[in-house]
Amino acid sequence: MSAAPSLDEIDVIGPDGYAREGYPHAAWRRLRRESPIHWFDLPDGVGFWAVTRRADIVWLSKQPNRFVNAPRLAIFEGGAPVEGERTFIRQLLNMDPPDHTLYRNAASGWFTPRAIGRREPEVRRIAGELLDEMAGDGELREGDFVTDLAAPLTLGVLADMLGVPRADWPRMFAWTNRVAGSADPEFSGELAASGGAVPPFEQTRNELFAYFAALAEDRRKTPRDDIVSVLSRAEIRGAPMPGLELLSYFMLLVVAGNETTRNAASGGLLALIENPGELAQLRADPSLVPTAVEEIVRWTSPVIQFCRTAVEDVELRGRRIRRGDAFCLFYPSANRDESVFADPDVFRVDRRPNPHIGFGIGEHFCLGANLARLELRVIFEELAKRLESIELAGAFERMRSSFLGGVKRMPIRYRMRPVRAGRRD
Ligand code: HEM
Repeated sequence: MSAAPSLDEIDVIGPDGYAREGYPHAAWRRLRRESPIHWFDLPDGVGFWAVTRRADIVWLSKQPNRFVNAPRLAIFEGGAPVEGERTFIRQLLNMDPPDHTLYRNAASGWFTPRAIGRREPEVRRIAGELLDEMAGDGELREGDFVTDLAAPLTLGVLADMLGVPRADWPRMFAWTNRVAGSADPEFSGELAASGGAVPPFEQTRNELFAYFAALAEDRRKTPRDDIVSVLSRAEIRGAPMPGLELLSYFMLLVVAGNETTRNAASGGLLALIENPGELAQLRADPSLVPTAVEEIVRWTSPVIQFCRTAVEDVELRGRRIRRGDAFCLFYPSANRDESVFADPDVFRVDRRPNPHIGFGIGEHFCLGANLARLELRVIFEELAKRLESIELAGAFERMRSSFLGGVKRMPIRYRMRPVRAGRRD
């Protein structure tokens, strides 16, 4: 029998493990128990403190002036394809107060519970159309949940809020895959293979910026009721939002709004398939959907990590942290913290209380949380009503990323009631 690896040999940041096996829950459990603030070296010479307990992530996140976002967005092995270099991309997640507050306020009116609540009929209409398409005539069918429902729903809802015309949605889909999957050869490879001198992430960023620059120009002249109109006319300290910040804002919304909810929906359905008792309970009592949604976010934790940097020396759980050191906040680990959650490795649609921090906490708490919750509620309410049977029909394929827990494919075999047919009579 081989001995357990030493803590320093554990790999929680290499993307290959995430693609092959999913989240390293066993490693996080050990870190929480043995070394909740643990230093890891990285091959590029810059290391990081892995933070794995919920209380420590909350403590760090609630002190935005001592532990800042600007220098590093997240921890990436061998360089940082999405690192927030100020000249390249500058958005909420690599800003700090007071700028962060001003920029966040520019869009926050679109994401309040009331504003998002008004979108429910539209979200339900898009979900209904996609589900009717999937259902056929109620016969046994096969499909891919990611491409048939999770991806087009989240993309469509957000594109509509931004004001992106329907014909351009496929482009948005490709961009978000390429940004979030920049460590995955399936998404970055095709660009690299096209022989361009520009690195794949940068090329995607340039395309997306060019597209939204044109759209913003149009909306400045002829404003409509959409986010591009609002942000392209917004003022920061009495002056128009600068171009880099404006275009980075759109990029943030496109990626954050698509890559996360899509993966919560797919991972949530997988959890229900793997826990048939929970699926049966949800179908029997759809009023459980809101608590099931919270459990799905806890269970799937689609954002794996963000980073904070210490602006002063500090001691934390006996560790001496130096000014400039990076902390990697592992949200999925916090969401399985045994000192907070009873039976953390059990998926329960009726879990209460459920103080997960899948949407983060503090200053940068997810701007889209109300939207994500609405989309997930609608998806699982509709599925609870319509699904007659469901099973996996092939491998659940994960993206090669230790930043966002992406799902590339989720083949399913199912039978679903076609509501459309009912509506006709
Ligand atoms: C289940 C789905 C989602 C999850 C799990 C998620 C998770 C997160 C997390 C962990 C953060 C960082 C919080 C922190 O640092 O404390 C964040 C920030 C953010 N999210 Fe989400 N998110 C989701 C859906 C969305 C959606 C649908 C949008 C819509 C546009 C969105 C937009 C944002 C934005 C703009 C930020 C930056 C906020 C800031 O820095 O002030 N997210 N999200």
